[in-house]
Amino acid sequence: MTFPPELLRCLVAAQRVTVLTGAGVSAESGVPTFRDAQTGLWAKFKPEELATPTAFRREPRLVWEWYAWRRQLVAKANPNPAHLALVEWEKRASSFTLITQNVDDLHVQAGTENLLRVHGSLWELSCWQACGASTWRDESVPLQTLPPSCPACRGLARPGVVWFGESLPTRELEAAAAACDCDVFLTVGTSALVYPAAGLVHEAKRRGAFTAELNLEVTPASAEVDLAIHGPADELLPNISRRITP
Ligand code: OAD
Repeated sequence: MTFPPELLRCLVAAQRVTVLTGAGVSAESGVPTFRDAQTGLWAKFKPEELATPTAFRREPRLVWEWYAWRRQLVAKANPNPAHLALVEWEKRASSFTLITQNVDDLHVQAGTENLLRVHGSLWELSCWQACGASTWRDESVPLQTLPPSCPACRGLARPGVVWFGESLPTRELEAAAAACDCDVFLTVGTSALVYPAAGLVHEAKRRGAFTAELNLEVTPASAEVDLAIHGPADELLPNISRRITP
């Protein structure tokens, strides 16, 4: 596998590295992506029936059954070489931020520390009735009750993920925007279609970062970044890591 020397040079010299990941990074771990033809979740399910506040209001049990099924899939998954390579990069870089759209927490499991989960987590729940209970973690598989309830008010609980039509968590979004002020910004395993996350690479480029995309296929970001490399993340990231390690 050969890489443009420009990328390796930039990575070796970079003080501040920011990486944005999407579902493609977890594909090798057996977690389905969203938009891949045949295997992607949105090829089999309709997002408007399962991943919107309106869908949840209409049929909370159906929505919860789908999230319970996804929790079961992810519970069996382990971090793959892509997740692990990013942990190694973090140890070496003076400043490293990993922004993920993934809700599987495989970056957490791998050991990444400076992580911004801009779309939430499958393992967190919050109160749908807004009783004021903060988000809590529940890693039980299967869930004890379906739909689960809020431990504070006993009302309906919701998955701690961002749905279509909802805002991203403010703290994470602000920190992600700040992390666009970096030397190198890599976008890995994402279709670059869902905003505002998809806009971060443009912001990083505007602020002068060297931008690169690592993805299985061409995306709308490919023509915008300084460098686009096509291949599986679990091969590309460890390979790059080996070449930039002193
Ligand atoms: P997508 O499913 O839209 O895109 C995954 C991308 O990863 C595609 O471009 C694939 O070609 C690529 N890919 C697949 N396997 C790969 C591999 N082994 N190595 C490298 N690339 C690979 O997933 P996301 O971009 O993460 O949002 O989707 C963004 C958001 O849309 C998700 O967070 C989710 C979804 O609707 C919410 O649920 C709010």
